[in-house]
Amino acid sequence: MTITLKLATSLDARIATASGESRWITGAASREQVHRLRAAHDAVVVGIETALADDPELTVRLPGYTGRQPARVVLDSRQRLSPACKLAATARETPTYVVTTAEPDAALTQAGVHVLSVAADGEGRPDLMGVVQALANAGLANLFLEGGGQVAGSFLRHGLVDAIEWFRAPIVIGGEGRPAIGALAVAALAGAPHFRRVEVTQLGDDLWERYARVA
Ligand SMILES: NC(=O)c1ccc[n+]([C@@H]2O[C@H](COP(=O)([O-])OP(=O)(O)OC[C@H]3O[C@@H](n4cnc5c(N)ncnc54)[C@H](OP(=O)(O)O)[C@@H]3O)[C@@H](O)[C@H]2O)c1
Repeated sequence: MTITLKLATSLDARIATASGESRWITGAASREQVHRLRAAHDAVVVGIETALADDPELTVRLPGYTGRQPARVVLDSRQRLSPACKLAATARETPTYVVTTAEPDAALTQAGVHVLSVAADGEGRPDLMGVVQALANAGLANLFLEGGGQVAGSFLRHGLVDAIEWFRAPIVIGGEGRPAIGALAVAALAGAPHFRRVEVTQLGDDLWERYARVA
């Protein structure tokens, strides 16, 4: 099991403006590289707020690409994902999973979405160790986390992020923008998750920084 966190941010690590506008912070070359990274993973994972805000497809769209599509996974305690959204509407072509804490919603399963029910954590959300286990049981071992900030924060807080692929655009959004990484409850620097930068590449006007977790 390998879990990689992708961040596409402003210089000040924002993933959207306060109103939720996020398309597009990074440039075309960064976005193309994200599609290559998607192709190398079993599943792309997002939180329900990202699915609701962006109605994304989360597929690999590269010129001439005919390879395997990663599964799409939405962490969604209350099954708020609409059967009419793009992820659900294309679930029979590209495997789509909702991970919840409740019984599967018939509207989603009828649309072809695989609903996985796992135990709740203290906040009533799918417990992340249960999420990772349920996905592994479904054959999804290499996960690519594509946001948003709350999901990124949860996986980091649980020490579950092995690598970070950070695409950073040369714009500044400011403090009222949505943070790339939600609350981590870090009390002391020694307790903060530590990473080692392994590669830096310029992509158009952006920087692509690659990080590995320091064990
Ligand atoms: N720039 C980019 O590349 C990029 C990428 C992605 C998103 N975005 C932007 O980010 C914004 C959404 O980010 P967000 O931080 O508000 O929300 P998010 O992380 O996408 O979704 C958070 C929601 O997921 C559900 N969830 C279920 N299990 C969870 C868990 N273990 N940990 C955390 N959340 C869990 C929770 O809702 P329930 O309690 O209902 O389950 C939670 O409110 C949007 O504006 C989107 O456009 C930008």
